[in-house]
Amino acid sequence: MNAPIRALGNDLCYIGASDRRTALFENMYPVAQGMSYNSYLLLDEKTALFDTVDRAVCPEFLANLDCALDGRALDYVIVQHMEPDHCAALQEVLVRYPHAQVICTAGAARMITQFFGVDVSSRGRTVREGETLCTGTHTLTFIMAPMVHWPEVMMTWDDTARTLFSADAFGTFGTLDGSLFADERGGSAQWLPEARRYYTNIVGKYGPQVQAVLKKAAGLNIARICPLHGPIWQKELAWLMNKYGQWSAYTPEDKAVLIVCGSVYGGTEAAASHLAAHLAAGGVTDIVLRDVSKTHGSELLAQAFRCSHIVLASITYNAGIFTPMKNFLLDLQAHALRSRSYSLIENGSWAPLCGKQMDEMLEQMADMRKVGDTVTLRSALNPDSRKALLALGDALLSDLK
Ligand code: FEO
Repeated sequence: MNAPIRALGNDLCYIGASDRRTALFENMYPVAQGMSYNSYLLLDEKTALFDTVDRAVCPEFLANLDCALDGRALDYVIVQHMEPDHCAALQEVLVRYPHAQVICTAGAARMITQFFGVDVSSRGRTVREGETLCTGTHTLTFIMAPMVHWPEVMMTWDDTARTLFSADAFGTFGTLDGSLFADERGGSAQWLPEARRYYTNIVGKYGPQVQAVLKKAAGLNIARICPLHGPIWQKELAWLMNKYGQWSAYTPEDKAVLIVCGSVYGGTEAAASHLAAHLAAGGVTDIVLRDVSKTHGSELLAQAFRCSHIVLASITYNAGIFTPMKNFLLDLQAHALRSRSYSLIENGSWAPLCGKQMDEMLEQMADMRKVGDTVTLRSALNPDSRKALLALGDALLSDLK
């Protein structure tokens, strides 16, 4: 083989590619460590391609596919997910391999028409839950996974190889740099932060749907998970499933405090720092304090999913919540975060109004519990507000015990 593809056993190849140039995944999420778009080719008696790639890496992918087929025909194109980060090369594949049969859900078939103006009903079949495709020595079973992360998504279970092709699920941000398996490059410790940021931002809203798929996966004797982004998992599978169980149930991973401050001239940030110091002095070892204006929302959301306690410290701006803080709260709501303990600090030099409005937004979310009273600052800490801040700190310490 003269393309950067790797064999995954006797008859499966990795033919995806990594993108180190795109700054924002989905034109929204910073990917400083790049992004991989995974595609797999099964070389059984029949050949089967699992998804294509983003347009950023189409040339590499098409070269990989041609090389891996090594002159053989492409028999099946299995389309698990029609989001363009996985289907951008699909139209070209359909043209290059006119005899390949398309296997996908009915929803995906409709999207193929929507995206490409192509009707694939005469060249393949749509599949439903539990339907199978035999490629020779492998029998593939299709598992519907609606809203993980679009409605047309399905996964594929290869019982022969005990491999789950999991679409977006179990993906991470970050490139694959030669190594393909998570355990080849640091394992869970290495991949957890970006796996969490990927899950919470991309799929986080759809916890119940993820739980439904996890129930199906629990009945499979999985040896290997091949997602569409990030490394392949062949070790620490129980750990990975447990993380997905926590995230999809909106259960905090850690007894930890996320303090998010929105400050213009420093008074609110000083209060947030005082609170953090008080908590640390009281024995809390897991505290994350971030400036909402300078920290990307995807990082804040990931931390909000991780931590049990969230403290919001905001100035009042235009008689409301500081705009970046309001955007953060909207992001929490949009991703259906629930079941957190929260505390509030508000600041206003002449009319501190944002505390009540933050309360109202948090009360709209499910199972949110307030700890302590809102601390009100007028411009900067003074003896009275410092006393109230320490009382809030004590309430948090007591709650964290
Ligand atoms: Fe990686 Fe939902 O696409």
